[in-house]
Amino acid sequence: MSGLFISFEGGDGAGKSTQLRLLADWVRTASGREVVVTREPGGTDVGRTLREVLLHGADLDPRTEALLFAADRAHHVASLVRPALERDAVVLTDRYLDSSVAYQAGGRELSGEEVEQLSLWAVQDLLPQVSVLLDLDPVHLPQRLTGAPDRLERAGDGFHVRTREAFLARAAQDPGRWLVLDAAAGIEDLAADIRARVAPLLGVAP
Ligand code: TYD
Repeated sequence: MSGLFISFEGGDGAGKSTQLRLLADWVRTASGREVVVTREPGGTDVGRTLREVLLHGADLDPRTEALLFAADRAHHVASLVRPALERDAVVLTDRYLDSSVAYQAGGRELSGEEVEQLSLWAVQDLLPQVSVLLDLDPVHLPQRLTGAPDRLERAGDGFHVRTREAFLARAAQDPGRWLVLDAAAGIEDLAADIRARVAPLLGVAP
């Protein structure tokens, strides 16, 4: 596979979608490569049905929730991400497997290892070459969240603190894959740091 796969991770309201859009525009202009912008959950038609169930449906027990996120991911990778990488595209996804480890394993019931194994099985071990963590202290959350909260966003402060710690711990374990940035920085500064990390992989100047 010769494409480039990049994920954006972080808490709700960290600015992932803004940075993803800026990077997509820059990659198109700077490299002329095809860019595919997608997200989880809900990057495909089947995924949009699962997204509705996951974010706006009834409460789910932790195993059901983990399996549905993994099912969304399996279909997303098989039907959209891998085919795009095979035709040499640059794929930018708003959330991927690390979100499952951070969100589905934070509670009492499932360990990070089992959630990770489930997702790795679902995607046949496909990991991004770069994962950008937009790390946001949850004290900034009330100003940043817009619109009605989804089922996971209603989970309370302790939940956001745990997911943040889980992302930081994963990033520390695999520094070669992760670029950790302080999401409180300015939009342009963040975009420049992301370009600097990605440019060499495309063989272009940042
Ligand atoms: P979404 O609106 O797509 O993202 P954001 O809040 O980042 O703007 O919401 C996705 C929600 O689903 C978010 O609260 C995180 C959660 N989620 C998981 O719990 N596990 C996962 O594997 C993924 C991909 C997302």
